[in-house]
Amino acid sequence: MPKDVIIALDFENREKTLAFLDRFTAAKPYVKIGMELFYAEGPDIVREIKRRGHRIFLDLKLHDIPNTVKKAMKVLSGLDVDMTNLHAAGTIAMMEAAKEGLTKPDGTCATLLAVTQLTSTDEARMREELLIDATMQDTVKHYAQNAQKAGLSGVVCSPLEAALVKEACGPDFLTVTPGIRFADAAADDQRRVMTPAKAREAGSDYIVVGRPITAAPDPVAAWERCVNEFVKGEA
Ligand code: C5P
Repeated sequence: MPKDVIIALDFENREKTLAFLDRFTAAKPYVKIGMELFYAEGPDIVREIKRRGHRIFLDLKLHDIPNTVKKAMKVLSGLDVDMTNLHAAGTIAMMEAAKEGLTKPDGTCATLLAVTQLTSTDEARMREELLIDATMQDTVKHYAQNAQKAGLSGVVCSPLEAALVKEACGPDFLTVTPGIRFADAAADDQRRVMTPAKAREAGSDYIVVGRPITAAPDPVAAWERCVNEFVKGEA
């Protein structure tokens, strides 16, 4: 299975994003473009970063009726991103439609992931506000199985749930996990965090790392530290 570190480019505009990427002269890290940057700069920012040689996870978390999601995914397929995602809560029919839309005429398809339950949602809110009468673990597991039934490649989940997802869906079903912090750092607003080394042990395939790299005094060194711990297992 591939293991890699994905840097969350949570910047407000093109200038800040490209100035950050300019620091990486020797290597081209895998990056994540989220809603903030995409809504600010549009598809051109995806093309520009792709042109610079980075692999891209376009994190737009689609959730709408199947026909709308299918058509939106068809547009995204033209951007040639490597990975993108949607909410599993949109149902299996929506996920199947998304996969169909994202598949190109030649049969190739970007890696499509489902968000199970956001890590910002806790079990109490899920039960009281969303009226989901199940444990967080069972909900995550069930949503992951739905995503697998729809033909998706994996899920975005907490590293604490990676082992559970692998157990339910098999070793080839991808787990992409945010909520990563170095052992000696602050958690910021993340509630449940894991170090890159622990995420490796937990079976994550990709870790998504934002502020521990983007806000570091030396982002290239922080990225290398993540790669050493997570990809090379040199903690
Ligand atoms: O700065 P930090 O490492 O906390 O950034 C984590 C990134 O992963 C952010 O872009 C955040 O939106 C994203 N993410 C997350 N939790 C999820 C899904 C996505 O933190 N459940």
